[in-house]
Amino acid sequence: METADAGSRYVELGDARVPYLLGGDDLFAGAAAGLRADRWIVVGADAPALRPLTARIADLLGRYAPVERIAVGDAEAAKSLATVSAVCAAAIERGASRGSVLVAVGGGTVGNIAGLCAALLFRGIRLVQVPTTLIGMSDVVLSQKQGVNLGGVKNGIGTYYRPELIWADPACLDTLPPREIQAAQAEIIKNALILTPEQIPVLRGLLRPDGRYGTAELRTFIELAVAAKAPVLRADPRERRSALVLEYGHTLGHALEVLSGGRLSHGFGVAAGLRAAARVAGRLGLLDGEHVALHDRLLAAAGLPLTLPAEVDAAATRPALAAQLLRDNKRGYLPLPAGRIPMVLITAPGVAATTGDLPLTGVDLDLALDAFEDTRTVAAAAVRPA
Ligand SMILES: NC(=O)c1ccc[n+]([C@@H]2O[C@H](COP(=O)([O-])OP(=O)(O)OC[C@H]3O[C@@H](n4cnc5c(N)ncnc54)[C@H](O)[C@@H]3O)[C@@H](O)[C@H]2O)c1
Repeated sequence: METADAGSRYVELGDARVPYLLGGDDLFAGAAAGLRADRWIVVGADAPALRPLTARIADLLGRYAPVERIAVGDAEAAKSLATVSAVCAAAIERGASRGSVLVAVGGGTVGNIAGLCAALLFRGIRLVQVPTTLIGMSDVVLSQKQGVNLGGVKNGIGTYYRPELIWADPACLDTLPPREIQAAQAEIIKNALILTPEQIPVLRGLLRPDGRYGTAELRTFIELAVAAKAPVLRADPRERRSALVLEYGHTLGHALEVLSGGRLSHGFGVAAGLRAAARVAGRLGLLDGEHVALHDRLLAAAGLPLTLPAEVDAAATRPALAAQLLRDNKRGYLPLPAGRIPMVLITAPGVAATTGDLPLTGVDLDLALDAFEDTRTVAAAAVRPA
């Protein structure tokens, strides 16, 4: 991410530069006016905490063009083709045209749903992302991946679609529950472990187990995440080669999310997936015990649990996990024999294990499942201060 001044910067996705505004309404108003929309289609999370923000945005945009508001659910179950179809139909019915701009207001769930809608409506209308969660601001909007769940596969259907503009107001994180802040920190810790180990001491100094931070600290987390992701997104904007490192912790994480039926949030799934991936690398002799324990210590420092909620733990039986891992969306990058799955692993902080030029390793399914079992035994050493 390239910074022009305190509030405006660009995210580079390959050759494209997307303005990322970090600040209050004034910043957004000026940029929105420049889009010259014939109509704004504001797709907002139907969550009580977000209604005032969506109303404020609708008022602000209404100065420039008519506004149509479409509310969507933001539980993981809403991330479906049925929701995409309903939003697109409503947008068309309310007069959307090729000159309209779809504005997504909400967390990653709404961002992914609305992003796919923008890509599909009339084969693509302009998209503005207004993330309202820390994971949205520090992770989701820095990716062109738009998609919804299908056939029991997380993000089973989707496409790549770039927003015209991203606007995040860190002040709107004031209403976000600490759990959601902690969920985002799983991705921020992931970035540090696989991309930017130099951020680890910084995180050690910043992370607090209660998940309560001031706006300036939250802004720092966003800056750390974008600094970590910027080089990989510039080099591999479709996240199909070198940027696959961003999937670290997501193999077991996605499987657990799906098995939990949406009860486990994405970030908490990634946290569990990071612990499992570290133990896979440990069992393969790729990563030493101290670095395996570092995963647990950083996650614990952020207040992320080292155990799964009882109902999720019960659902994560060996056969259920095995079935889910065999449907992982990274399959097909590596030619692997039956019974092996592709995983992102590290050999040291900041160093991904590779096969050819891909940061993936074929892992025996049973070994992956054994490593997940290892995560159920929390070593006392793991919860020392980070
Ligand atoms: N590359 C990508 O596209 C990418 C990356 C990471 C995650 N994701 C996806 O993002 C989704 C998770 O996103 P998320 O963690 O933002 O969760 P989310 O969108 O489900 O939001 C979490 C909760 O926070 C509430 N909320 C949102 N903003 C709020 C605010 N300002 N104040 C109070 N409450 C607020 C929501 O109503 C919801 O209950 C997952 O579906 C995941 O797959 C996508």
